[in-house]
Amino acid sequence: MTKAVRVHKVGGPEVLTYEDVEVGAPGAGEVRIRQHAVGLNFIDVYFRTGLYKAPALPFIAGNEAAGEVLAVGPGVTNFHPGDRVAYYYNLGGYASERVIPADKLVKLPDHITYEQGAVLMLKGLTVWYLLHKTFKVEHGHRVLIHAAAGGIGLLACQWARALGAHVIGTVGSKAKADLALANGCDHVILYNEENFVERVKQISRGELCDVVYDGVGKTTFPGSLSCLKPRGLFVSFGNASGPVPPFPLAELNNHGSLFATRPKLNDYVGTRKELLEGADTLFAAVINGKLHVPINHAYALKDAAKAHSDLESRATTGAAILRP
Ligand SMILES: NC(=O)c1ccc[n+]([C@@H]2O[C@H](COP(=O)([O-])OP(=O)(O)OC[C@H]3O[C@@H](n4cnc5c(N)ncnc54)[C@H](OP(=O)(O)O)[C@@H]3O)[C@@H](O)[C@H]2O)c1
Repeated sequence: MTKAVRVHKVGGPEVLTYEDVEVGAPGAGEVRIRQHAVGLNFIDVYFRTGLYKAPALPFIAGNEAAGEVLAVGPGVTNFHPGDRVAYYYNLGGYASERVIPADKLVKLPDHITYEQGAVLMLKGLTVWYLLHKTFKVEHGHRVLIHAAAGGIGLLACQWARALGAHVIGTVGSKAKADLALANGCDHVILYNEENFVERVKQISRGELCDVVYDGVGKTTFPGSLSCLKPRGLFVSFGNASGPVPPFPLAELNNHGSLFATRPKLNDYVGTRKELLEGADTLFAAVINGKLHVPINHAYALKDAAKAHSDLESRATTGAAILRP
């Protein structure tokens, strides 16, 4: 028996149930791991509420973690008991131990802690593909990053600045503004108090942005489109405030022949080669000091409901972990 947090019916944070579960021996191509740190993500909220559908009920929540290999199944040759590993994988993450396909794991370099690994595989890899693949951020680009003090936000602001971009962030409070400024933002907009479109126009002297990274969704749409220069890219990668409503394609024309995409991590690290390319680049960025991993909150795994409440009520900044 091991401990896990399961969802038996979708709903509020109270549906997260800390309980005993059986973990079997690893089958062919699988690995059993003991988890030392689990990452908290907004996508965990979407699965818990039912916005994103889990394949079946009950399910174990959670999508990223780090730990050590306990046992390997038949055919697994590249991992061994004692290896330090981390992963991003759909569900099953909120647990003390689990079984997972070996091809979803990456080895943690010596200089990356379990805590860092547990928040880098989903949040860090997402920031990697958003800034390097969805749009290739380069010196001189002006980028707008919504929810700049969040888990994704603080990493994205740091990395965009390191790539030479001019970074504008939006945040929900003055304290978050200070944090975003300390993590790579050149300008911060308090989007609950200020009109962020007007502020982007002022800050950019009317030139607007090359790309907008929008994980907030409903409340920042369609304003995000108005922040883009002609042929700019709208990257809608999340729904923290609710999904972006359906809109006519002609809106992209009206705002200046814009491009728009709704990307997800699975499609950027779908092959082993892509996963390793992303993880290698990410770990190197942390090890060489380009990227600081802001782990600002830690909860016991059994307190996952409290962690979800804090995340949903905008009380967290940076990354948070659960400790099994
Ligand atoms: N597509 C992908 O591949 C992918 C992968 C990972 C994450 N994501 C998305 O990236 C976004 C950020 O994820 P995260 O885990 O790092 O979360 P997070 O940014 O740490 O937390 C969400 C933040 O969104 C802001 N927000 C604005 N309106 C909100 C509302 N009505 N309710 C709650 N929060 C609101 C809050 O910041 P302020 O108080 O500053 O407004 C809040 O702190 C999420 O939308 C997530 O789904 C997408």
